[in-house]
Amino acid sequence: MARSFVVVVLFVSVLCFSSALARKISKKFYVEGKIYCDPCHFTFESRLSFPLPGVNVTLECINEYNNTMTYMKNSTTDAIGLYRISVHGDHEDNICVVVANSPNEGRCKEAMPNKSDRIILTNNMGAASRARYVNPLGFMTQTIDSECNVIVHELGLDNLFD
Ligand SMILES: *[C@@H]1O[C@H](CO)[C@@H](O)[C@H](O)[C@H]1NC(C)=O
Ligand SMILES: *[C@@H]1O[C@H](CO)[C@@H](O)[C@H](O)[C@H]1NC(C)=O
Ligand SMILES: *[C@@H]1O[C@H](CO)[C@@H](O)[C@H](O)[C@H]1NC(C)=O
Ligand SMILES: *[C@@H]1O[C@H](CO)[C@@H](O)[C@H](O)[C@H]1NC(C)=O
Repeated sequence: MARSFVVVVLFVSVLCFSSALARKISKKFYVEGKIYCDPCHFTFESRLSFPLPGVNVTLECINEYNNTMTYMKNSTTDAIGLYRISVHGDHEDNICVVVANSPNEGRCKEAMPNKSDRIILTNNMGAASRARYVNPLGFMTQTIDSECNVIVHELGLDNLFD
């Protein structure tokens, strides 16, 4: 009897400890995404798009109720146009987005929407993973690549881009 009580206590405390640990670990997220160049003025990615290294991005979280900035973190894309921002804490009541800064050099700096969709940085929504993938953001070249009309044709968009 006494022994089984000890076993139960031990089991319950292991359970508590591991769930406390899980809660602690889960308060860190990784926000990941990519920045690309669109040489066709499509404002979406195509097979002529290419990654943009060295673009500064900022993760911004704003409190929904009083519109104050609660979290901000900068990063820069790597050689293959990817960035990864680690975030501490749960941001359930926040609206978090990634904003890409227009590159100040290179041939790809024409603006497109530079703000991501809303990123959910809480575990209370049931997502188990700690990685949050952001929709790709891009910039456009000033002139349109001559190969782009081949893609327009491939995609059957001839009516849209006359
Ligand atoms: C905004 O609201 C949050 C929680 O609702 C609070 O913690 C924070 O202090 C508020 N900030 C300002 C500037 O009022
Ligand atoms: C992030 O970069 C912006 C400019 O893009 C700057 O205003 C801000 O101070 C930077 N924030 C941090 C935390 O470095
Ligand atoms: C994002 O784009 C808007 C509209 O084109 C522009 O006003 C804003 O300065 C841009 N933000 C950054 C960080 O480049
Ligand atoms: C990116 O941010 C770094 C550090 O804040 C700054 O030195 C650099 O000029 C920025 N690059 C661009 C393209 O804005």
